Amino acid sequence: MALFKKSFPAVRAVVAAALCFLAVVVPTKQSRGEPGSPQKAKFYQRPTDASLYVGSEVCKSCHEDTPTKDFYKNYEASPHFVTTMDSKKGAQWQGCEACHGPGKEHVDGGGDKSKIFTFKDVSAQEASARCLDCHQYGEEHANFGRSAHLQNNVGCTDCHSPHHAKESQFLMKEKEPQLCYGCHLETKQQFTRTFHHRVNEGLVRCDDCHNPHGGFLVRQARATISEDTVCFKCHTDKAGPFVFEHQAVKIEGCISCHTPHGSSNPRLLKRSQVNLLCLECHSLTVDAGAPAIPTFHKQDQKYQACTLCHVAIHGSNSSNVFFKP
Ligand code: HEC
Ligand code: HEC
Ligand code: HEC
Ligand code: HEC
Ligand code: HEC
Ligand code: HEC
Ligand code: HEC
Ligand code: HEC
Ligand code: HEC
Ligand code: HEC
Repeated sequence: MALFKKSFPAVRAVVAAALCFLAVVVPTKQSRGEPGSPQKAKFYQRPTDASLYVGSEVCKSCHEDTPTKDFYKNYEASPHFVTTMDSKKGAQWQGCEACHGPGKEHVDGGGDKSKIFTFKDVSAQEASARCLDCHQYGEEHANFGRSAHLQNNVGCTDCHSPHHAKESQFLMKEKEPQLCYGCHLETKQQFTRTFHHRVNEGLVRCDDCHNPHGGFLVRQARATISEDTVCFKCHTDKAGPFVFEHQAVKIEGCISCHTPHGSSNPRLLKRSQVNLLCLECHSLTVDAGAPAIPTFHKQDQKYQACTLCHVAIHGSNSSNVFFKP
C-alpha cells in the first residue's frame, strides 16, 4: 500500500499523458471519454491504536440535539447507525470515528477543531477514501477510482450526505435527476427537448443507462453503448437476432441514428428527416461503406421517407431490404 501511495502521482501523470495521446493522435469516436485506467482511489489508512478512540457515545455528549449540533441524532437515524459496523474489526471501524478518524485528542482538547478530521475543504479523493474501503465491494462501486467523476474531483460526498441527506433512500443529497442536473446543465437542456426519454417524468432514470459510480465502459454506461445492450434492457424487440440484420444497428449501434437523451426530431432521431439520416451512409453513388441506393430510386425520392418502404429498419426476418418485419 505504501508503495502504491508513493507511485500514485506518477500513475496519474502517465494516465494524463496517455489520455492526451489518445485525444490528439487517435481522434476516435471514443477518445473524448475513455474510462480511466484502473487507478484506485487511495484508501484512508486508519490508525489502529485503540487508545486513540473514544467511541460514539462520547461524541454524543457534545454533538447531540441542538440544531447546529444534531450530528449524533441524524447519525443515529441513518443506515450508518449500526452498533458495530463490523464486529470483527477494531475501534477504527466503529461509529463516528470510522469516518472522522480517532477523536481522543479532539475530546481532550474540549472539542479542539484542529484535532479532528472534517470533510470541509478536502479533495474528493481524500473524502472518498474514507468511504471506499467499506464500500468498494460489489460491482456497483468497485470502479469508482476509474470513474469520470472521481477523476474530475467529484466524490462520494458530492452526491451523498451521511448527516443531512434530503432523500431518505441512499443518503442522497438530492433526488435524481435534479442531483445530476446540478452539474450537467447540457444534459438537463437535452431532456427538455420535445422528444426525450421520460427521465423528468420519472419513467426512466439516469442510472438505468449510467453508473454514477463509474465502470469500465465509455460514458460510465451500465452496459456497452456500441453493442447497444444498454438500450436492449428496455427495447428488447430491437435486440434481434434477425435473419437480415441492418449492419448500421449491429456495428455502429443505436446512437448512430438516435440521440439517447432528447431531440427535437421525432423518434429521437439525429436528423430532422429520416432520409437525411439514411443518406449519411447510403449515397446515390457506389461507396465503400454501405450499399449505394439503387438507380431506380429517383432523385425526388430523396424527399420521400425511406422508411415508407423500408419499414423494418432495425432488422427483419423476412426481407433482406427491410420491407416487412
Ligand atoms: C467535549 C465536547 C466534545 C466532544 C466529546 C466531541 N466534540 Fe466534536 N466538537 C466540539 C466542539 C465545541 C466543536 C466546535 C463546534 C463549532 O465550532 O461549531 C466540535 C467540532 C467537531 C467537528 C467539526 C470540526 C470543524 O472543523 O468544524 C467534528 C467533525 C467533530 N467535532 C467530531 C467529533 C467526533 C467524531 C467526536 C467523538 C469522537 C466528537 N466530535 C466529540 C466538542 C466536542
Ligand atoms: C459515514 C461516515 C460518517 C459518520 C459515521 C459520521 N460522519 Fe460526521 N460527517 C461525515 C461527512 C461526509 C460530513 C460532511 C457533511 C455531510 O456530508 O453531511 C460530516 C460532517 C460532520 C460535522 C460537521 C463538520 C464537517 O466536517 O463538515 C460534524 C460536527 C460531524 N460530522 C460529527 C459527527 C459525529 C458526532 C458523528 C457520530 C455521531 C459522525 N459525524 C458520524 C461523515 C460521517
Ligand atoms: C455522481 C453522483 C454519485 C457519486 C459521486 C456517488 N454516488 Fe453513490 N449513489 C448515487 C446514486 C444516484 C445512487 C442511487 C442508485 C440507485 O438508485 O440504484 C447511489 C447509491 C449508492 C449506494 C446504495 C446502493 C448500492 O448500490 O449499494 C451506496 C452504498 C453508495 N451510493 C455509496 C457511494 C460511495 C461510497 C461513493 C464514493 C465512493 C458514491 N456512492 C459516489 C450517486 C452517486
Ligand atoms: C466503517 C464502514 C463504513 C464507512 C467508513 C462508510 N460506510 Fe456507508 N455504509 C456502511 C454500512 C455498514 C451501511 C449499511 C449497510 C448497507 O446498506 O450496506 C452503509 C450504508 C451506506 C449507504 C446506503 C444507505 C441506504 O439507504 O441504503 C450510503 C449511500 C453510504 N453508506 C455512503 C457512505 C459514504 C458517502 C461514506 C463516506 C463519507 C460512507 N458510506 C462510509 C459502512 C460504511
Ligand atoms: C436511455 C439511456 C440514457 C439515459 C436515461 C441517460 N443517458 Fe446519458 N448517455 C447515454 C448514452 C448512450 C450516452 C453516450 C452518447 C454518445 O456517446 O454519443 C450518454 C452520454 C451522457 C453524457 C456524456 C456527454 C454527452 O452528452 O454525450 C453525460 C454527462 C450523460 N449522458 C449524463 C446523463 C444524465 C445526467 C442523465 C439523467 C438526467 C442521463 N445521462 C440519462 C444514455 C442515457
Ligand atoms: C458535483 C457535480 C456532479 C454531479 C452531482 C454529477 N456529475 Fe456527472 N460528471 C461531473 C463531472 C465534472 C464529470 C466529468 C466531466 C464531464 O464529462 O462532464 C462528469 C461525468 C459524467 C459522465 C461521463 C461523461 C463522459 O463524457 O464520460 C456521466 C455519464 C455522468 N457524469 C453522469 C452523471 C449522473 C447520472 C449523475 C447523477 C446521478 C451525475 N453525473 C452527477 C460532475 C457531476
Ligand atoms: C429504462 C428503460 C429504457 C432504456 C434503458 C432505453 N429506453 Fe428508449 N424508451 C423507453 C421508453 C419507456 C420509451 C417510450 C417513450 C415514451 O413514451 O416516453 C422509449 C422510447 C424510445 C424511442 C422512441 C421515442 C419516440 O419518440 O417514439 C427511441 C428511439 C429510444 N427509446 C431509443 C433508445 C436508445 C437508443 C436507448 C439506448 C441508448 C434506449 N432507448 C434505452 C425506455 C428505455
Ligand atoms: C439506421 C438507423 C437506425 C438505427 C441504427 C437504429 N434506429 Fe431506431 N429508428 C430509426 C428510424 C428511422 C426510426 C423511425 C421509424 C419510423 O419513423 O417509422 C426508428 C424508430 C425507433 C423507435 C420507435 C419506433 C419503434 O420501432 O419502436 C425505437 C424505440 C427505436 N428506434 C429504438 C432503437 C434502438 C434501441 C436501436 C439500437 C438497437 C435503434 N433504434 C437503432 C433508425 C434507426
Ligand atoms: C450508420 C450508417 C447507416 C445508416 C445511417 C443507414 N444504413 Fe442502411 N446499411 C448500412 C450498412 C453498413 C448496411 C449493410 C451492408 C451490407 O450488409 O453489406 C446497410 C444495409 C441497408 C439495406 C439492405 C441492403 C442490402 O443489400 O443488404 C437497406 C435497405 C438499408 N440499409 C436502408 C437504410 C435506410 C432506409 C436507412 C435510413 C433509415 C439506413 N439504411 C441508414 C449502413 C447504414
Ligand atoms: C417507394 C419505395 C421506396 C422508397 C421510398 C425507398 N426505397 Fe430503397 N428500395 C426500394 C426497392 C423496391 C428496392 C429494391 C428491393 C430489392 O432489390 O428487392 C430498394 C432497395 C434499396 C437498397 C438496397 C440496395 C442494394 O444494392 O441492395 C437500399 C440501400 C435502399 N433501397 C435505400 C433507400 C434509401 C436510403 C431511401 C431513402 C432515400 C429509400 N431506399 C427509399 C424501394 C424504396
